[in-house]
Amino acid sequence: MSRHRLETERLLLRPPEESDVALIAMLAGDYEVSKNLARVPHPYTEGDAQSFVTRSAMQRAQGTAFPFAIIRKDSGLYLGGCGLHLMDNGLFELGYWLGRPHWGRGYATEAARKVAGFAFHGLRAVRLTAGYFHDNPASGRVLEKLGFRPDGAANRDCLARGHTVYCLDMLLERENFGRRPSNGQAA
Ligand SMILES: CC(C)(COP(=O)(O)OP(=O)(O)OC[C@H]1O[C@@H](n2cnc3c(N)ncnc32)[C@H](O)[C@@H]1OP(=O)(O)O)[C@@H](O)C(=O)NCCC(=O)NCCS
Repeated sequence: MSRHRLETERLLLRPPEESDVALIAMLAGDYEVSKNLARVPHPYTEGDAQSFVTRSAMQRAQGTAFPFAIIRKDSGLYLGGCGLHLMDNGLFELGYWLGRPHWGRGYATEAARKVAGFAFHGLRAVRLTAGYFHDNPASGRVLEKLGFRPDGAANRDCLARGHTVYCLDMLLERENFGRRPSNGQAA
């Protein structure tokens, strides 16, 4: 499994690059997006997006993060981002976001499922963490569909809002990947 290029039915996942900067800035500059992310400030400039792309390449080389741009395979359109970030506790955290025009089409689930599979099978992770803010149930649903289960909650920083927000922490063990907690069937 390539560390740099993953594919799903509709999506290509590849490292963020210079040509993405303008769209990253525009789409992540939407407060409706950044208020649901921990580490994206608002306003968010092209300079911020450029730093993100540069930092992403360094972190990928160090193995501390695996950020992917989410691209429509048919049109080549940049839709958002999905990736893994090594936390202080030694676990990878799964994160994702889509530009607002692209919500509600199953892209987050499709991308996050592929990246989680990469973590378990490509990076040999045994469990993954993730978290979503209490007022973002769509993200909770994405995680639930992948098989994540609740694992506590805490107030966490949100740069865009400028204050902490109550965050539901979630955990996914490799053996539960793709299983729904309610019926044990593959998602
Ligand atoms: C959260 C986000 C990633 C979802 O992306 P998406 O591509 O629309 O997600 P999907 O279509 O794959 O799945 C969304 C699920 O949430 C459900 N959903 C949507 N709005 C919901 C709501 N208000 N309450 C409950 N469930 C909701 C959808 O019905 C769908 O579930 P289903 O497949 O069972 O019907 C997207 O809205 C986003 O980028 N938001 C801003 C950034 C963000 O929140 N990132 C995650 C940080 S933890």
